[in-house]
Amino acid sequence: MSNNRMLLKRDIKEKKELVNIEMDRFLPRKDEYPKQIHKAIRHTLFAGGKRLRPYLLLHTYQLFGIETDKILPVAAALEMLHTYTLIHDDLPEIDNDDYRRGKKACHVLFGADIALLAGDSLLIYAIESINKAEINDKLKLLLLREFCQETGHKGLIAGQMVDIESEGKNITEKTLNYIHKNKTGRLINLAIRFGCILGKASDEDTENMRIFGEKIGLAFQIVDDILDIEGDKESLGKTIGKDSQQKKATYPSINGLEESRTKAEKLIEDARARLEKYGEKAIYLDHLAEFLLTRKY
Ligand code: IPE
Ligand code: IPE
Ligand code: MG
Ligand code: MG
Ligand code: MG
Repeated sequence: MSNNRMLLKRDIKEKKELVNIEMDRFLPRKDEYPKQIHKAIRHTLFAGGKRLRPYLLLHTYQLFGIETDKILPVAAALEMLHTYTLIHDDLPEIDNDDYRRGKKACHVLFGADIALLAGDSLLIYAIESINKAEINDKLKLLLLREFCQETGHKGLIAGQMVDIESEGKNITEKTLNYIHKNKTGRLINLAIRFGCILGKASDEDTENMRIFGEKIGLAFQIVDDILDIEGDKESLGKTIGKDSQQKKATYPSINGLEESRTKAEKLIEDARARLEKYGEKAIYLDHLAEFLLTRKY
């Protein structure tokens, strides 16, 4: 394993642990009444996952700020928000996926009714967790405004909506980009935007990091589409081949595997160039961008 990869692996593990502890302390215990909902909430949240969005927040913040402990509830909020989208995405009415993060999907274990409520709960816990952070009210309002904008019906939900209505259809690359930028890019951008807001980054840095986020966000979903074809179920923790089975509009289905790979590589190269101005401070974001291209999970 290269030195970079080892450093990154250790750092991801460390940050993951911090976020997991924060979420574990924040959420009701499994045996709290009514038990089934708390079990369902914890099942997918702690089944695994890369904790990519908290990681992006923490490292973007560290380019500009220093009090990492204070922002852990915001990092936890991003992960709870993301997990809500996964639980709902897997429902029979959406992607009908049985397997998530190497375990049975929430609805398979608890039923679609409870999975729906578990997703709703995580969305609300995400808001509560932001509200609980020890940051000033003005900052909290700014975060919540961005939260609504990125995840609402003109953001992430719009992406999921067009993803659903494009099943089985021949769509243009423009529409595909719309799906990917919204369903996936929005949350990745939100993590980076949160880091800039909390670190009080300048307008110039915020714009620079927005472009970084936009590029890694799209590359991330292109790689997700590629892994659905070429990935390994064990490492990925998801069912392979679901996209073609459901006639999903994906990068490889429109442009082929080779062109998709080239596109992702170019996006990551452009994204990494945005980090040059931060020098050593951005070393983990740079390793991460590189990893997003070669990841197997
Ligand atoms: C999966 O996201 C859903 C997409 C946006 C493609 P991740 O690949 O980040 O999933 P986890 O959190 O590691 O399980
Ligand atoms: C999921 O995209 C995006 C959201 C959950 C918002 P996918 O449907 O491609 O994600 P996977 O492949 O199921 O993880
Ligand atoms: Mg989906
Ligand atoms: Mg899916
Ligand atoms: Mg996918």
